[in-house]
Amino acid sequence: MTPILEVKNLVTKFHAIDGIVNAVNGVSFRLEEGETLAIVGESGSGKSVSMMSILGLLPSPPAKVEGGEAIFHSEKGAVDLLKLPYDEISNVHGGRIGFIFQDPGTSLNPILTVGEQITESLTRHLVMDSQQARRRAIDLLADVGIPDPELRFSAYPFQLSGGMRQRVMIAIAVACSPSIVIADEPTTALDVTIQAQIVSLFKELRKRMGVSTIWITHDLGLVAGLADRVLVMYAGKIMESAPVDDLYENPQHPYTVGLLGALPRLDTDETRRLVSIEGAPPDSTIPIQHCPFAWRCTRAFDRCWQEAPALLDVEKNHQAACFAVSGRGG
Ligand SMILES: Nc1ncnc2c1ncn2[C@@H]1O[C@H](COP(=O)(O)OP(=O)(O)O)[C@@H](O)[C@H]1O
Ligand SMILES: [Mg+2]
Repeated sequence: MTPILEVKNLVTKFHAIDGIVNAVNGVSFRLEEGETLAIVGESGSGKSVSMMSILGLLPSPPAKVEGGEAIFHSEKGAVDLLKLPYDEISNVHGGRIGFIFQDPGTSLNPILTVGEQITESLTRHLVMDSQQARRRAIDLLADVGIPDPELRFSAYPFQLSGGMRQRVMIAIAVACSPSIVIADEPTTALDVTIQAQIVSLFKELRKRMGVSTIWITHDLGLVAGLADRVLVMYAGKIMESAPVDDLYENPQHPYTVGLLGALPRLDTDETRRLVSIEGAPPDSTIPIQHCPFAWRCTRAFDRCWQEAPALLDVEKNHQAACFAVSGRGG
């Protein structure tokens, strides 16, 4: 397998007035070419901040990427995105890497037409005159399933439904044929039917374009059938990483086991009680030297309160950051 993005030990903090927020505490992962990676975790676990750190999208101050690397492999060679100057990283965003945000209502510019926003991205990143950009934008609107694309080209975001706006966001993200598309909870603000339509559009585009994708969600139920691999995040760390089927059938980390226990099962007759994990994630303004899940973990023992477990192999192609599963000795 060939990696297209390798993130190593990413650390991001916010230096807020009332203290330091430890948002991302040493995140490492690889995205392989053509792969879909899902990053799953409760709200506040550092999913968005991780991705925004990589693309230089965080306001600094208060945000500061304090460590790590994000190696992006392209036809021009490997670059560390965290070391690129502002103008270069802002070229990568929207060009080689497309980003779809959670809320299309706030991420589209209300005073520009849909067409203007797509052509703006095309002419900024690609060599194209305005006529070519217009034609390409209309094709893109058709590709993402927007009816009457020529008409919609001149529409303002407020004239479209939430689902249509999210389709426009997807068109912008894929406009320049990126090698990676990152979708940050793209369906959270939508109702269930529209959600399913966006997921299937995303799958279709991914297949057609052969693009590598990262799909961020707080909903573990959404990633079956969508992702190749799942990363489970908690308190700014990756707790488990496994191929999607393996994660469902053989979850290792007690946190993942808890998350899966809380999923309503549709595939069995057995009426499983909706359980949720007791307690709340730790306060991110307090630095934690031990396992951040220890407070909520039914399997915690002495060592879990003394040091932080590293993400280690528990079996082939499957890692967990947990002393209870990766061996008490190691
Ligand atoms: N602009 C900000 N200023 C201060 N703290 C922030 C800011 N944005 C995010 N955070 C904090 O960083 C942590 C991670 O947030 P985030 O990555 O948005 O979580 P997720 O996307 O997993 O829901 C949270 O504790 C959140 O409160
Ligand atoms: Mg988020």
